[in-house]
Amino acid sequence: MNVTQAMQSRRTIRGFKPDPVPAEVIREIFSIAQESPSNCNTQPWHVSVVSGEKRDALENALVTEIMLGKKPEQAFQAFDQDLAGVYKDRQYACAAGYYTTMGIAREDKDARNALMVKNWQFFGAPHVAFISMPKTMGPINAVDIGIYLQSLMLLMVERGLASCPQGALAFFPKPVFDLANIPQDNGILCGLSFGYADAEAKINEVKMGRAELAETVQFFD
Ligand SMILES: Cc1cc2nc3c(=O)[nH]c(=O)nc-3n(C[C@H](O)[C@H](O)[C@H](O)COP(=O)(O)O)c2cc1C
Repeated sequence: MNVTQAMQSRRTIRGFKPDPVPAEVIREIFSIAQESPSNCNTQPWHVSVVSGEKRDALENALVTEIMLGKKPEQAFQAFDQDLAGVYKDRQYACAAGYYTTMGIAREDKDARNALMVKNWQFFGAPHVAFISMPKTMGPINAVDIGIYLQSLMLLMVERGLASCPQGALAFFPKPVFDLANIPQDNGILCGLSFGYADAEAKINEVKMGRAELAETVQFFD
């Protein structure tokens, strides 16, 4: 598989088989992702990869936070509440595509919430990586983290693995800090659930489109 094929076949997967990925394969992916470029080579990513009993304990702790009605408290502001124009339209189309595939009506808040909670169950994935960086860092360092995240996702595709990048995994940091040894001065930017895709899962039928090239890229000669 080449990079083009990996780019074209990667999709966000939200239904996984419980089968764990061999530890050496996980290690190889994270080891190669270290090659990702970063501003001044600062390599700001700190990653905690959680599997097995710890993963299950973390799922329990996160779902408990939600059941207790805890409010999200991300370290880095997401700025995605007040989107406007084409960005709002795309966000809306994303949610609509997701709920339509799952047969959930827009006004069915309970069903939408139940689907949302799956974020903190890692969509059934056997592994989850939490990616953090120092709270003092800003946008350019977040660019580094984004590049690193895409490196991970493409390396996973190459190995027949699937993944789901999740901003939602930054919402309830306390249990993650307690269980996954995140440096105290760091903030979690996102998580990445990963494993083998469940080909039978309805949720994996969601296919997100993309804007026409001319909408986002201009060429000047
Ligand atoms: C930084 C980032 C955060 C995301 N957060 C979530 C999330 O919290 N929950 C979720 O289900 N999907 C999340 N996604 C997945 C996006 O919805 C998905 O990438 C987008 O709809 C395009 O679909 P595709 O990845 O299948 O091409 C996130 C993606 C990125 C890159």
